[in-house]
Amino acid sequence: MADFLSNYSIQKWLESCPQGYLEDTVYGHGADEREPEELLKNEQFREAQIRTTVQLIAGERCALAASSGLINAAPDAASKTFLATQTLDEGRHVEIFTQRLFDLGIAQDDLESTIKTYINPNLGKFAEVLLEKVDKKDFVAGVVGQNIVLEGMAFSVFEMLHATSSDMNPKFAHTLAGTIADERRHVGFGENRIGELIRRYPEKKPEIERMQRDMTKHMLATFHDSFAASPLAAASPSVAPGARKSAGTYQGLNLAEASNEEMEGALSSVVLNEFKTRLGRIGLEYQSPV
Ligand SMILES: [Fe+2]
Ligand SMILES: [Fe+2]
Repeated sequence: MADFLSNYSIQKWLESCPQGYLEDTVYGHGADEREPEELLKNEQFREAQIRTTVQLIAGERCALAASSGLINAAPDAASKTFLATQTLDEGRHVEIFTQRLFDLGIAQDDLESTIKTYINPNLGKFAEVLLEKVDKKDFVAGVVGQNIVLEGMAFSVFEMLHATSSDMNPKFAHTLAGTIADERRHVGFGENRIGELIRRYPEKKPEIERMQRDMTKHMLATFHDSFAASPLAAASPSVAPGARKSAGTYQGLNLAEASNEEMEGALSSVVLNEFKTRLGRIGLEYQSPV
């Protein structure tokens, strides 16, 4: 417990995050970094980026609602303290991805209508399943849904986006890098804190596994829609397709040549493997959606 206390303390968070990898960043990136001109000039690429960014904002709004809501459901002080740091991380994620929408040319007054236009309904359903547990103050289910399922997904999506943007859009890649570091910490908390609680309350397993199965179903549907929605840009959301020659690799796929189906398959298998490993570590068995 002493280790747990110091690893997830506010002091540790201050040193590693705001005074560490986020030092000198502005909205998560270098002060002089901008979205690439060729992206802003091309309406089709710009719209694909807006669509992708809206899904990130929606996911982060869900994480903000969940992490803040779970503070009052947490049974111990150390978890409350950690969730307070996570709440600020998630608030920051909402802010930096919202700022990216503005950088992509969305007017501040059009923020909510833009989110409404582009949000994937399956992502909304995914969030609903989790927030229902949070509203019931179900800490164990809430942490599994948030820190294993939601963040296992977010983490993998950010890594894919990072792989596809690091050459062509350093600004977005830097924004993602700080977010990935935060998510790594959040996923670690979920694993460390919840295994013991699952052992203590084994009767909760079936309900939690049902939640995981439902969230997984909505997640896979979201991936499917996302890759289908932007045939040119989804596989390489941060770069112009014309520039994909130098786009690098993801999970062994050459990004200059990978089809949307191949990218969807690669991302889905990465996330599902994440789920299997992490759920296994906390004593739950991964449930495949029918
Ligand atoms: Fe987040
Ligand atoms: Fe997170």
